[in-house]
Amino acid sequence: MRVAAFVGSPRTEGSTDLIVRQVLKGAEEEGASTSIYHLGLLEMKGCIACMGCRETGVCVIDDGMTPLYEVLHEADAIVLGTPIYFYYMTAQMKTFTDRLFALIGEDFEMRLEKKETVLVVTQGADKPEYFDAQIKSMADAWGMCGLSVRETILSCSTGTREQVEEDVEMMSTAFEAGRVLVKVKL
Ligand SMILES: Cc1cc2nc3c(=O)[nH]c(=O)nc-3n(C[C@H](O)[C@H](O)[C@H](O)COP(=O)(O)O)c2cc1C
Repeated sequence: MRVAAFVGSPRTEGSTDLIVRQVLKGAEEEGASTSIYHLGLLEMKGCIACMGCRETGVCVIDDGMTPLYEVLHEADAIVLGTPIYFYYMTAQMKTFTDRLFALIGEDFEMRLEKKETVLVVTQGADKPEYFDAQIKSMADAWGMCGLSVRETILSCSTGTREQVEEDVEMMSTAFEAGRVLVKVKL
């Protein structure tokens, strides 16, 4: 059982990373092997709309995204993490998401076997419902690519890693989400 996590925060030791790792800890507790990819560390170009992938299923751009297609295909479950930046996912996560276009077929069929997905969202805003519409829109987009968001862990008024760790309830929910992610696949 393999769980692959993709983190869209440019801060590799930020709060999003911390919560994503907590989900992975839960998955490891249930015996999964896990891997984590920080999208900000990869050289990744935006989709150039060449439509090359429409027939082939393979993106023509050879860069940091290229090996991630195989990671996605081979994973049994996925964790996605992004802070809210200006009311949406970060640019790093959006670039990754646009490049998932290669995983959608010509008739919008999924080329990727459906993957159960846990989503981690961190935000500075205090109200949990503040970005409901945006988070739903993100989940809808990933769902089209086969990444089916079954649970969202939301951290509001997100501060330092230490402050996030003190949110025992949220951290426990994140751990449990990782455990459940593995169990639903077994
Ligand atoms: C460029 C930028 C834009 C941001 N935009 C928003 C926003 O629109 N709404 C919000 O609630 N928080 C916003 N934030 C705050 C981040 O979502 C928050 O600090 C998050 O926890 C950062 O995650 P990290 O620790 O993984 O970097 C923004 C932060 C930055 C740097």
